[in-house]
Amino acid sequence: NEPNVCIVGSINMDLTVKTDKMPMQGETVLGDTFFTNPGGKGANQAVAAARMGANVNFIGAVGEDAFGKTLLQNLTNEGVRKTGIETIPDVSTGTATIILSDNDNRIIVAPGANNHVTPELVEKYRDLIKSSDIVLMQLEVPMETIEFTTELAETNGVPIIMNPAPFQQLPEKVLKNISYMTPNEIELAAMKEDPLFDFIQEKLVVTRGDKGVSFVENGTEQDTDGYHVHVTDTTGAGDTFNGTLAGELARGAELAEAVNVANAAAALSVSKIGAQGGMPTKQDVQRFLQKGNITE
Ligand code: RIB
Ligand code: NA
Repeated sequence: NEPNVCIVGSINMDLTVKTDKMPMQGETVLGDTFFTNPGGKGANQAVAAARMGANVNFIGAVGEDAFGKTLLQNLTNEGVRKTGIETIPDVSTGTATIILSDNDNRIIVAPGANNHVTPELVEKYRDLIKSSDIVLMQLEVPMETIEFTTELAETNGVPIIMNPAPFQQLPEKVLKNISYMTPNEIELAAMKEDPLFDFIQEKLVVTRGDKGVSFVENGTEQDTDGYHVHVTDTTGAGDTFNGTLAGELARGAELAEAVNVANAAAALSVSKIGAQGGMPTKQDVQRFLQKGNITE
């Protein structure tokens, strides 16, 4: 029985420019190189889960344009199932404009077709959710869709991983319905401001980059060590973590094991440029863990 993951989320084209110097307000700088790479938190997490060997279904949308075509082809190449993805006329495909320098990255997302991932779309493909072992979501689709999907999954007894990025406060019913919440340290700090924080303390899986991951298992907090690797591009490291975590939990791994594998996958992913570039396969991760976590 293969693990089934269903993702309801975003699909973007990432427009990345590398630069030694970030422009200041009103300033123009001469940068370095420009790349277009497939991205979007939903699509990135789908690719990560698929490379780990999970069956991945996706509910989402692209626009009727060249980026949309390229991104659909990319998902096909990665083995992600596209039954639940629609092409919306007269809107642009989601984009993320990324400025990448040696020690910083800054991103602006223009959602485009991702705003057309509505509760109605999810309702149309509800069987994909019902038949999955786990549902994985991020916050790049409308909040009403997040409310609808988490409720649908909960009603059908399907666990939900919520990656709260880009950060927004979530309504009480969403917090109650989810099984795992995976903020990074910045998102965690914002979450602590919320009077509803108590609801999710036991569901937290906090990613701390090369400082490792903290999570709660059977009521006690646990920490895993981080991995020190050569960093080329951290864009999508969190997505690699989340997609891998979903794939591992879907196949029935214990949380501690799933976290360790996901953490190793995220470390490997930062070695190459692009959110999906460098995302490892299951064999890559196994080799990395066996070799004492040394990257070549
Ligand atoms: O998490 C990284 C992703 O965030 C990028 O691929 C970009 O598309 C934005 O959605
Ligand atoms: Na990468």
